[in-house]
Amino acid sequence: MTTSQGAKKAQGRVALVTGGNGITGNAIIEYLATTTTTNDWSKIIVTSNSPLESKIKDPRIIFIALDFTQDSRTLIEQMQPVCTQTTHTYFSSYIHKDDFRELNHANEKLFENFLQAITTVAPNLENVTLQTGGKYYNIHIQPARNPLREDYPRAFPKSQNFYYGQEDFLKEHQKGKNWSWNVIRPQAIIGSTYKPNGMNSALTFALYFSICKELGTKAPMPTNRRFWEGYDDVSYAPLIADLTIFVSTRLSCANEAFNCTNGDVICWKYLWPQLAAYFGIDPADADVSAQINKVEEPLEGTAEQFFSLNTWAKDKRPVWDKLCEETKTANSKKTFDCGTWQFQDWVFQRTWSALLSVSKARRYGWTGYIDSLDSFIATFDELAKQGVIPKRDVMLIIFHF
Ligand SMILES: NC(=O)c1ccc[n+]([C@@H]2O[C@H](COP(=O)([O-])OP(=O)(O)OC[C@H]3O[C@@H](n4cnc5c(N)ncnc54)[C@H](OP(=O)(O)O)[C@@H]3O)[C@@H](O)[C@H]2O)c1
Repeated sequence: MTTSQGAKKAQGRVALVTGGNGITGNAIIEYLATTTTTNDWSKIIVTSNSPLESKIKDPRIIFIALDFTQDSRTLIEQMQPVCTQTTHTYFSSYIHKDDFRELNHANEKLFENFLQAITTVAPNLENVTLQTGGKYYNIHIQPARNPLREDYPRAFPKSQNFYYGQEDFLKEHQKGKNWSWNVIRPQAIIGSTYKPNGMNSALTFALYFSICKELGTKAPMPTNRRFWEGYDDVSYAPLIADLTIFVSTRLSCANEAFNCTNGDVICWKYLWPQLAAYFGIDPADADVSAQINKVEEPLEGTAEQFFSLNTWAKDKRPVWDKLCEETKTANSKKTFDCGTWQFQDWVFQRTWSALLSVSKARRYGWTGYIDSLDSFIATFDELAKQGVIPKRDVMLIIFHF
C-alpha cells in the first residue's frame, strides 16, 4: 500500500469526518491521525450518531454526536460552533437495512440534511467527499458489465437506488460554489469497527471460521458454483481512506467519482480456504468444490446459496461465548452481535461476478494497492489486537493447530 499525501499546499486544513464509529469513518480518522501532522491538518472533527468508541488518540480530534435524520435547520444549530472551520468533509454515514426498499428510504435524506447544514455552517469549505459504493452499479441485484467504470449509464430509475439521489444532490448543490465534490465507490469493505455496523465481511468471516473450529466442523462457503468459481474484488478500509484523502486534496481530481478496490482480483475458490487456514481450519475442509460440482450450475442472474449464513448463525451464540471463555476474552462475547450475516448472504447468493475498474484512479495518479489476502490477514490481526476476536496465538494453544 502506498501513502499519497497532499499535492496541493496543505495549510490549516480542517477535516470533518462523519460516520466516525463506522468501518469507513474509522479508517479515515486513523489515516489522518497516523499519517498527517498539524501542518497538514490542524483539526479532525469527527461525528457519529452515538458516542465515539474509537481508540485512536490524537489531540486534533474533536467529537460531536449528530443525527442526520434531523432537518438541516436543527443540524445547523448543533454544528454551528464546532464545524465552522471545516475545509474538507468526508461523508461516511449510513443506515443499514437488509430490505433494499427500506435501505433506499432510510438513506435518502441522511446526506441531504448533512450537506445543507455543512454548506451553511462552513464558509471556508474546499471539498465534500461522499462515499457510495458498488451498489451504484446495481451489482447487488443483477449481473454486471465488467469491469464497471465510473461513467457507465445507470441501469435503474433514481427512485430505486439511494446512491443516485445522493450523488445528484451533491453535484446540483455544488454548482456555482467554491468547493469541489468527489465520490468514492468501494466494493465490500475489509476493515474493523469498534461497534456493530451494517456490512462487515471480515468480522463475519472471523466469527464463522472461529465457531466452525470450536465446533470441529468443516467450514464450507455458503455460496453457489458460479460465485465460488467466479471473480470478485474487495476494498481495504485504510486504502479507501488513502484514495479519499488523495482525491479530495488535489485540484486535478475535483468533481469526479472514483471506484476504489484493492487493485487485484480474487477467486473465492482459492481465497476462502486460505482465510479458513488463518483460523486453524484445514483448507480442504473449507473447499466446497466437490459439493458444489454435484449440483447443476445455477443460471446467471438468479439468487442461490446451498445454505444461508444467517440461518446457520441463529443457534451459534453459545458456541462463541464458550470460545470467548476458553480464550479468556469474555469482552469479545458482544462481538457476536456484530456479525452481518444477512448482508453476507446478499453477497454470497449472487450468481455473477462484479468487478470495479480502478483505472480512473490510477490515471489520476493514485498508486494505492494491497493484495486482498493480505488485507484480510491485516484486518483479522487488527480485530484481535482490539480484543474484538480472540488472539490467534491464544486460539492456537486452545486448538493445537
Ligand atoms: N461496509 C461495506 O462493506 C460497504 C461496501 C461498499 C460500500 N459501502 C458504503 O459506504 C458508505 C458508508 O458505509 P459504512 O459501511 O462505512 O458505514 P457503517 O460502518 O455502517 O457506519 C455507519 C455510520 O453511520 C452512522 N449513522 C447511522 N445512523 C446515523 C444517523 N441517523 N445520523 C448520523 N449518523 C448515523 C453510524 O453511527 P453510530 O455507529 O455512532 O450509530 C456509523 O458511524 C455507505 O454508503 C455504504 O453503503 C459500504
